[in-house]
Amino acid sequence: MTGRVLHVVGARPNFVKAAPVVAALRSAGCEQVLVHTGQHYDERLSDVFFRQLGLPAPDTDLGVGSGSHARQTAELLMALETELIARAPALVLVYGDVNSTLAGALAAAKLGIPVAHVEAGLRSFDMTMPEEVNRRLVDQLAELLFVTSPEAIGHLTREGMDVGRVHLVGNPMIDTLLTHLDLFDPAAARTAHDLPERYGVVTLHRPSNVDDPEAARAAALVLTEAARHLDLAVPLHPRGRRALEAAGLCGAPGVNVLEPLGYVEFMSLVRGAAAVITDSGGVQEETTILGVPCLTLRTTTERPVTVTDGTNRLVQHAELIPALRKALDGEQTARGEGPPLWDGKAGARIARIVTRWLDHHD
Ligand code: UD1
Ligand code: UDP
Repeated sequence: MTGRVLHVVGARPNFVKAAPVVAALRSAGCEQVLVHTGQHYDERLSDVFFRQLGLPAPDTDLGVGSGSHARQTAELLMALETELIARAPALVLVYGDVNSTLAGALAAAKLGIPVAHVEAGLRSFDMTMPEEVNRRLVDQLAELLFVTSPEAIGHLTREGMDVGRVHLVGNPMIDTLLTHLDLFDPAAARTAHDLPERYGVVTLHRPSNVDDPEAARAAALVLTEAARHLDLAVPLHPRGRRALEAAGLCGAPGVNVLEPLGYVEFMSLVRGAAAVITDSGGVQEETTILGVPCLTLRTTTERPVTVTDGTNRLVQHAELIPALRKALDGEQTARGEGPPLWDGKAGARIARIVTRWLDHHD
């Protein structure tokens, strides 16, 4: 086998998805380079994941940081182009749907470097989501499309992608969950945050829920109401913090607003939760595997298998409290046996396909 694989990661969900792929390629003896774009840079959004998930320190941190979509993507593109020219990898791996994913794929494609997209083919069909724009564009640019659930194959083929490039491999985020499962200690997490035996976990950071002050007020109101039924631990992403604080979430009885948590601390809380309220992509998947009822405060999901085969339900604000009551009464259980191939072996499947691909592209 020849050739060097270069991973582009930049934001919290990228780290959780890349860890098992990097580990599996290491076991396969593949020469790898890990590039951190610096899209996320706070200790709690970045470094803690490298420490806890056994990711090697990045070979380069491009330090791109925050900005508007155009500015951040432009900075990412410029920095990544220089890096890719210098490293000349045989294949670039990108993960999920963040701006670093799009920039990695676009910079590589323009240099004629093949791209592999991990978590290809997910679609919310809501182009107001920046992630949907990123996903669609990245899939058009990718030579290898690694999908986490069967419906993604249909989305890609309908968009004209050759089915021979599409590989159903399972879900690397679930590999990470299963690898660390023994470390998730709900009792310790509950004690650390002074929570009662029965509690809920909330994460909110989608622009549609937190950017507009009206939307943040509506979210804060319904969460305050939810906290009358269940004490809530709310680790807040920096994006939502100011708006939700301004909307009065912090002082509400039963609402415990926290800093973003490390992976093990967060998953420990989720594992022991009576219910989770979220707008996160990854959390919809993790709750499905942990069997924890998940109420997703969105109108769409790009992860419908978590509804059809798992514990996830989409809810609007007005539906949240009745849905929460049902969940607490034990009426929101998994509808299926869990999505196919979410078995902890996605990283190994990806590594097998990548090494075979490298062997044929000397
Ligand atoms: C990004 C992803 C989103 C993903 C989320 C995961 C895009 C378009 N969005 O959203 O899909 O769900 O990450 O967590 O890529 N900030 C900090 N510290 C940091 C990083 C950011 O305080 O380390 C603040 C800055 O004020 C910044 C804001 O958060 O402007 C938003 O950061 P950004 O990376 O642009 O998008 P996210 O909302 O984090
Ligand atoms: N996560 C974490 N601490 C937190 C919130 C999230 O460790 O306080 C982890 C969790 O595994 C989640 C992942 O980070 O699935 C990505 O979360 P996020 O909601 O930021 O991104 P999304 O999946 O919505 O893109």
